Amino acid sequence: MRLTLSDIQSRKNPDEPLVCLTAYTTPMARSLCPHVDLLLVGDSVGTVLYGMPDTTGVTLDMMIQHGRAVMRAAPDVPVIIDMPYGTYEDSPAQALSNARRILQETGAHGVKLEGGVDMAEIIAALTDTGIAVMGHIGLQPQSVKKDGGYKIKGKTSAQIEALMADARAVENAGVFALVIEGTIAETASQLTRAVGIPTIGIGGSPECDGQILVTEDLLGLLHGHKPKFAREYAHLRGDIDKAAARFADDVRKRTFPLPDNLYTRSTGKT
Ligand code: KIV
Repeated sequence: MRLTLSDIQSRKNPDEPLVCLTAYTTPMARSLCPHVDLLLVGDSVGTVLYGMPDTTGVTLDMMIQHGRAVMRAAPDVPVIIDMPYGTYEDSPAQALSNARRILQETGAHGVKLEGGVDMAEIIAALTDTGIAVMGHIGLQPQSVKKDGGYKIKGKTSAQIEALMADARAVENAGVFALVIEGTIAETASQLTRAVGIPTIGIGGSPECDGQILVTEDLLGLLHGHKPKFAREYAHLRGDIDKAAARFADDVRKRTFPLPDNLYTRSTGKT
């Protein structure tokens, strides 16, 4: 039995934590659907698939294209799409018009946006019209330039207090669940205990009500810096390297293609 967004919202202190992963493409969504409670079309697509230095260059059109690709997998799990940098922060009217575009053009179930107290009014404008919104506090990748890098949050008592205010503000604004990214584990636990909506950790705490990872991180597909929270469950980087090397070798030695890989008049089928 798959969960709806309202089921997810009621999964506070669940016996089994919620399982969430990112997806940007149809085949990946097909592979992940049987195993997850929610798919996120994250704006991490910019760094993961397009090699951008951070997520601030991701556009609404990119999110819509990838959202449609994920929805084409006909997922029977809720799909949430990130609102990219610069598409919601200016005014409730801007956020509303772009959130509607995302939902109308993809058929996804809701949107996610980054921010706490500063975004509460924007979030409330969306939830008041019935749009499902997932919050995202703690390390906010869209603020990387403002913050001067990817900084772990919730270290000092002032930071903890600010995060508490953020969590309560977005809960009051009506988010159905809250991503807590890149905070001291004890702070993520405190935040989880402070709100009545499920928290989804990424670099958070085991006490969060669910966990999310960027799928390419868990597949061991990415090059470069590997965040501490990203456990690799496969090593596809190495598999790709080996497969490409074997193909190159076969081509150079003329052991590919072989008769099995060729069409003949009698077996001219794919
Ligand atoms: O963009 C993304 O993939 C995200 C997750 C890391 C939560 O926001």
